[in-house]
Amino acid sequence: MNQILIIDDDQQLGLSFAKILSQEGYKTANAFTGSEGIESVKRNRPNVVILDIRLPDMGGLEVFEVIHEVFPKLPVIIITAYSSTETAIGAIQRGAFDYIYKPFDVPEMLLVVEKAVVAGRCMSSPVDVNPDGEIFSGREALVGSGSSMLEVYKAIGRVSPTDATVLIRGESGTGKELVSRAIYNHSNRADKPFVVVNCVAIPETLLESELFGYEKGTFTGAMHRRVGKIEQARGGTVFLDEIGDMPLSIQSKFLRLLQENSIERLGGKDPIDVDVRVVAATNRDLEAAVADGTFREDLYYRLRVVTLTIPPLRERKEDIDVLVEYLLARLSSEMSLNNPGITAEALNKTKQYDWPGNIRELSNVIKKALIFNRGAPLQPEDITLNQERSVPNGDVDQAVAGDIQLWVRGVLHSEKQEKLFDSCLDHVAALLVREALVITHGNRSNAAKILGISRPTLHAKIDKYKLDT
Ligand SMILES: Nc1ncnc2c1ncn2[C@@H]1O[C@H](COP(=O)(O)OP(=O)(O)OP(=O)(O)O)[C@@H](O)[C@H]1O
Ligand SMILES: [Mg+2]
Repeated sequence: MNQILIIDDDQQLGLSFAKILSQEGYKTANAFTGSEGIESVKRNRPNVVILDIRLPDMGGLEVFEVIHEVFPKLPVIIITAYSSTETAIGAIQRGAFDYIYKPFDVPEMLLVVEKAVVAGRCMSSPVDVNPDGEIFSGREALVGSGSSMLEVYKAIGRVSPTDATVLIRGESGTGKELVSRAIYNHSNRADKPFVVVNCVAIPETLLESELFGYEKGTFTGAMHRRVGKIEQARGGTVFLDEIGDMPLSIQSKFLRLLQENSIERLGGKDPIDVDVRVVAATNRDLEAAVADGTFREDLYYRLRVVTLTIPPLRERKEDIDVLVEYLLARLSSEMSLNNPGITAEALNKTKQYDWPGNIRELSNVIKKALIFNRGAPLQPEDITLNQERSVPNGDVDQAVAGDIQLWVRGVLHSEKQEKLFDSCLDHVAALLVREALVITHGNRSNAAKILGISRPTLHAKIDKYKLDT
C-alpha cells in the first residue's frame, strides 16, 4: 500500500489531509515539524511526501533539500500559500514534484498525489531487461528473446547513456512506455526526475500550459505563475507519449526546446534554459501526418534521428512462450493468486492469434484467465480471444479504426477513450455534412436547414472536416 507522509505544523490541516487520503486507500503518517518529518522519511520510507513550505523549526525549502539529497527519487509535493508561490517554484526547480495551494481543492490535491505515486513508482522501480522471462522477480521487465527484441535491447543499451532525443515507435500495447522507462533507468539521469506527459490525455487548450507553464495574468484564471512539466523535469527526462497527436500549435514550441534547449512560459517574455532529455513515443503514421500537414516536417526530421521501433507481437511470435510464462508469474503474484501454469494446447492457441492489441491484449487475456481459474493449468477454452473484426474499416481513418478495435476488446488505454469517442462522433458528423452537401449540390443554406443547424455551425464543420472541395 502506498504511504504518504504529511509534514505540516498545522495539526488540524495535516490530520484532515491524512483522513482524506486514507479514505482513498493510502496509508498515511503525519509529522508536525521539519526535523520530525526528516526522521520519518528516513525511518518509514514513504512513497510520497507532502510538505508545507512554512514550518516552525526550519524552512520548508531546507527540509525539502535534506530529503531530496537522501532520496532523490521520492516525489515531494509542496504545500504553499499564494504568497509563497515563488518559493514553491524554487523548490520545483530544485526537483520537487509539484505544488498545491492552500486552501485545497480536494480533487486536485488527490490528482497530484496520484500522479506523484505513479511518478515515484516509475522512478524507483527499474525495468529489468530479462529476455528469458523465467520467474517474475517482483519488478517489471522487458521480456522476449527473439532477434527483433534483442535488437531493441541493444538499442536501449546504446542510446540510454547519451542525452539524445529518442523516438519510440510501435503499435498500441507493444511496450513503448516500458521501453521509455528502461531507457530512463539505464541513463545517467536515472537519479533525476522522469516526467510523463500524454499528448492525447490532455485537452489541446491545456496541453500547452501543462508543458510550458504560464506567467501570472496570461489568461483568465492565471492568478499565479505556474511552472510546466518541462521545467519540472529539469536535469531529468521528459517522456512525451503519443507525440503524433501533439497539436500543430504546440509543435513549434516543442521543436524549439529540442533545438535550443529553451522554452518560454505562456505570456513569458524571456526564454528559460532547461536541461531535459526527451523521449517520445507514438503509434501514429508520422509520415502520413507530415504528408497531410498535421505534423511538422522539421519536427519529424529532428525526432527521427534516433528511432527505436518495437515490432508488433504478430511479427515476433517466438516471444510468446516467455511472455506468457512471465505474465502468468507476474499477474498471479500481483493479484495474490496461485500460478496454475498453462497447457501446451492453450499456449499453442495464443500463437494462432494475431494480437492486434499486442502485449497489453495478451496480458488482459491472461489476467482474465487467471481470475476465472480454479487451480488447473490453463486450457484452450480459458484463453478467450476476440477474433471477429467488429468494425468495417470503410471510410474511417486507419488509426481510428485500429483504436476502435482495441477499445471493444477492452485493451485501449483509458486515457485514449474519450478522445476516440470524440473522433467517432466527428466521423459520423462529417459523413452527415458531406451527405447533406451532396444532395443540396453544395448549397450551404439548404444543407444547414436539412441538418437543423445554423449556417455558421455548418461552416465551422465544413472547415473542421475539410469538406470544402
Ligand atoms: N517486452 C515486454 N515484456 C513484458 N511486458 C511487456 C513488454 N512489452 C509490454 N509489456 C507490458 O504490456 C503492457 C503495455 O505496455 P506499454 O504500456 O508500455 O505499451 P505502449 O506501447 O505504451 O501502449 P499504448 O500505445 O497503448 O500506450 C504493459 O503492462 C507492459 O508492462
Ligand atoms: Mg503507452
